[in-house]
Amino acid sequence: MIKKNDVVLITGCGGMLGEAVYSQFKDVCKVFATDIDLNESWLEHLDVTDHNEVKILTEKIKPDYILHLAALTDMEYCELNPKESYTVNAGGVENLAWYAHSNNIPFLYISTAGIFDGKKDVYNELDKPNPQSIYARSKYVGELVAKSLSKSIVLRAGWMVGGGPKKDKKFVNKVIKQIQNGCKELFVVDDKLGTPCYTYDLAKSMFYLLNEEKTGIFHGACEGSGSRYDVAEFLLEKLGLKNKIKLTKVDSFYFKKEFFAPRPYSEKLTNIKLKELNSELTRDWKQCLGEYLEKFDWKV
Ligand SMILES: NC(=O)c1ccc[n+]([C@@H]2O[C@H](COP(=O)([O-])OP(=O)(O)OC[C@H]3O[C@@H](n4cnc5c(N)ncnc54)[C@H](OP(=O)(O)O)[C@@H]3O)[C@@H](O)[C@H]2O)c1
Repeated sequence: MIKKNDVVLITGCGGMLGEAVYSQFKDVCKVFATDIDLNESWLEHLDVTDHNEVKILTEKIKPDYILHLAALTDMEYCELNPKESYTVNAGGVENLAWYAHSNNIPFLYISTAGIFDGKKDVYNELDKPNPQSIYARSKYVGELVAKSLSKSIVLRAGWMVGGGPKKDKKFVNKVIKQIQNGCKELFVVDDKLGTPCYTYDLAKSMFYLLNEEKTGIFHGACEGSGSRYDVAEFLLEKLGLKNKIKLTKVDSFYFKKEFFAPRPYSEKLTNIKLKELNSELTRDWKQCLGEYLEKFDWKV
């Protein structure tokens, strides 16, 4: 059980998910939130690839829990920079894992639905990974490192939704930015399927799993699934823009120059284990996306 004086070290906490995780943990225990990008006053510097920096910091703050979020998440950047991707997404895990291993403390690693090859329709926690892109392969190596620890949780996320206008680097904000720039027709792929994953719900699941002293592999996406087109269609409807902006279905070939990293046909996740533990942890993606759009002022 997480106690008030417990120290929780979070890596990569300046990103989309970090925003929600910081809020979830900060009033319950002593949070030491870190990133290489110090975009908040509550962040301290930690480059997870710097073995020495990791060693000095962990020995100084003596964390009771490590939540490892840090990663290079731009799939095209990873494809072009494989060495750096493995150094951050796999090597970074190993650097932090050493402390967890030596001190026998819980280590929570965030993985991705992208570790599957997409040939199956829906993936559960026991399905066999077969990562296709550099990003997915490097994340999968990170999983293997995390799994080797005795007190580890590997929590696989789906299409990340969260962070708000300032931090959201993914699909929802990409679509909104096009709208802000005056775009009257959106071209969206309908041949990629997945499960959106709401950062605020994922942060709750992280807390729940650690607090209940669980270990193992879990899927932590929303309930339900859809294509990128389905997500964009719901978004336009919620923002009241359905009749003002035309939505055109395209296939992935249309974006082959911009999004050249291999992406599985299906990244749909089912959260069998998490739902068994607590059915309130995973909500329908439409409910979550609706809540997200209302939470921030998107200026559209
Ligand atoms: N985004 C998704 O769709 C998605 C889906 C499934 C799983 N995940 C996983 O979820 C976790 C959180 O990702 P996110 O969605 O919050 O993405 P994010 O916004 O890119 O956050 C990742 C953070 O890690 C930082 N970082 C990069 N290299 C680092 C290093 N060497 N040392 C310390 N920090 C470093 C990034 O800084 P910079 O911004 O400066 O690079 C960023 O602030 C990651 O492990 C990711 O693989 C993400």
